[in-house]
Amino acid sequence: MMNKSQPDLFGAPYGTVTPMQYPGPIGVFDSGLGGLTILNQLTKRLPQFDYLYLGDQARVPYGTRSFETVLRYTKEGVTELFSRGCALVILACNTASAKALRSLQQEWLPAAAPDRRILGVLRPSTEEAGHFTHSGHLGILATPGTVRSNSYPIEISHFFPKLAVSQLACPLWVPLVEAGELHSEGTRFFVARDLKRLFELDPLIDAVLLACTHYPLLIDLVRSIVPPNVKIIEQGPLIAEKLQTYLEKHPEIRSRCTTKGTVRYITTDKKEGFCEKSALFGMAIEADQVEEAHHFL
Ligand code: DGL
Repeated sequence: MMNKSQPDLFGAPYGTVTPMQYPGPIGVFDSGLGGLTILNQLTKRLPQFDYLYLGDQARVPYGTRSFETVLRYTKEGVTELFSRGCALVILACNTASAKALRSLQQEWLPAAAPDRRILGVLRPSTEEAGHFTHSGHLGILATPGTVRSNSYPIEISHFFPKLAVSQLACPLWVPLVEAGELHSEGTRFFVARDLKRLFELDPLIDAVLLACTHYPLLIDLVRSIVPPNVKIIEQGPLIAEKLQTYLEKHPEIRSRCTTKGTVRYITTDKKEGFCEKSALFGMAIEADQVEEAHHFL
C-alpha cells in the first residue's frame, strides 16, 4: 500500500522511525491551516500542555486526493512530529482521520513506534453526534474525500445504530475559506445551495455536523440559513473534551507530554505564506519551514 522505494517529502526512506525521545509536545497535524480551529480549542481547554502544529501547506488540500496519497502524506507528517519528540499526535484533519488513521494505527504504528499514539477527529465526533438530534436524523458536511471514505456513517453506526445519517461533500467550501471569501455573496450562494441539497437528502435532519477543519469559519453563515431548530455541531470543543478524558485515562501517555504551555508551528511550505494566511483563521502565528533535507532518523 505504501510505496517504500520512494523517499518521502522530507527526504527520508519510508517505514522507519527512530524519533527523538519524548517527553515532548502534543503533535497536531493538518493538511494546512484549517487545523488551527481544532488547536485553538485544545489550547483553550488544556493550556498547560506544549503543542507542535504541523501544517502540510505545500500539499493542501487533502480533501480531493486519493486514499493512497492521503495515507502517504499523513504518515510523513506524523513521522515528522514523532521525530520532534511528540509521543501523541492528533490528526486535526478530517480527511486524514477518515482515510489514513486506521491504516496507520493498525498497519504501521505497532512496528514503527509502538509506544506512541495517533488519535483522529472522527471518534470524538461520532461518539457524541447522536446526542444532538431529537429526530434521529443527522446531516454531515465534509470534503469529497471524507464523504467518499464513508467513515462517518460507519463509525456512527457503532454508537448510534438507529440514527439516519446523510452526508454531503462540499468541495467549494475549503477554497472559499482559503480565498478569504467568508462574507461574500458567492459564498452565501454556495453554502445555501449545499445546505439545500443536504436537506433534500433528508428533510428530517435536525443536527448538522461540520466535519471539516475549515467549516467552523462558516458557522454563522450556516446558522443563518438553516431552520432555527437545527443544531450545528462544531468539532473542536468535542475533540478537546475527549482529549482531556483520554489523557486522564492514560497517564503513561500524559507523562510523555511536556507542560510548559507553549505552542510552536511548522509548515512544509514557505513560512511567510503560512504565517500570512493564518490571519484568515484569526491568528498571527510565527512558523518554521520543515527543511526538505530533514531526515526523520
Ligand atoms: N483539513 C481538511 C479536512 O478537515 C480540509 C482541507 C483539505 O482538504 O485539506 O478535511
